[in-house]
Amino acid sequence: MDLHGRVAIVTGGGTGIGRAVCLRLAKAGAKAVVVNYSRSDKDARVTAAELIVLGQDAIAHKADVSNESEVKAMIAAAIDRYGRLDVLINNAGTTRFIAHADLEALTDDVWDEIFKVNLKGTFYCCRAAAPELRKTGGTIVNIASVAGHLATGSSIVYAVSKAGVLQLTRALAVALAPDVRVNSVSPGLVSTRWLRQFDAGAADSQETATAASTPLNAVATTDHVAQAVMAFVENDMITGQDVVVDGGKNILY
Ligand SMILES: NC(=O)c1ccc[n+]([C@@H]2O[C@H](COP(=O)([O-])OP(=O)(O)OC[C@H]3O[C@@H](n4cnc5c(N)ncnc54)[C@H](OP(=O)(O)O)[C@@H]3O)[C@@H](O)[C@H]2O)c1
Repeated sequence: MDLHGRVAIVTGGGTGIGRAVCLRLAKAGAKAVVVNYSRSDKDARVTAAELIVLGQDAIAHKADVSNESEVKAMIAAAIDRYGRLDVLINNAGTTRFIAHADLEALTDDVWDEIFKVNLKGTFYCCRAAAPELRKTGGTIVNIASVAGHLATGSSIVYAVSKAGVLQLTRALAVALAPDVRVNSVSPGLVSTRWLRQFDAGAADSQETATAASTPLNAVATTDHVAQAVMAFVENDMITGQDVVVDGGKNILY
């Protein structure tokens, strides 16, 4: 896909990985990007302003991806404003940091809170965007996680939700073919507020330890993940696939 003249929505686009994807989309020529947020309004507005400085149009749009009517309203607003939708990046995600051995802490509230954003929210966005993406020969990239592949991650519920995202990606790749391609990117540890907001000191130590045990001797940046997202957006012959962005850490035994 040539991004020139294309319109994209990036959920959770104001911060971290989502912001890096927004910047890459604008630099590749996307004419407009809807920067979605649910709470981080200032970050979303700053990111949208950065895209405008790059010469593209952008708006910050508040919508909780776990609320289907808000998701539908966001897609409708994008079509009203820009006349089309070509790219959907499902990046919004949430977690709770719970030791995997602590099964009692995995309450119904925890399951519901994480699943409704990471899995149902991703599905709501795909379903609402599908009719427009079919018209434009569009594409979807979901942000999954190494936690969806391996017995790791901030909590068991988070890991299972991301495994669900991987399977949703494959199922939708078939369901929406041949009009819409659907792929996912699975980051390993990425240096964002994700970990840092809970314990900055622990985040520093974890990043140092992760880099030391990674073949490429580094922790991925948000832009490394955005590069993988762009590869899926731009390649017209790939669907139903996932790529891990973790410097090769997952191949070690
Ligand atoms: N950082 C890592 O190590 C890592 C590793 C693997 C996968 N990931 C995945 O990467 C994605 C982005 O995370 P990040 O590291 O860039 O952290 P982040 O900056 O905290 O990004 C999370 C984003 O999700 C948005 N979000 C959360 N709940 C939402 C909701 N209900 N509706 C709309 N947006 C919502 C947040 O926006 P608001 O603040 O406005 O709610 C925020 O912009 C997530 O899906 C995460 O699971 C991250």
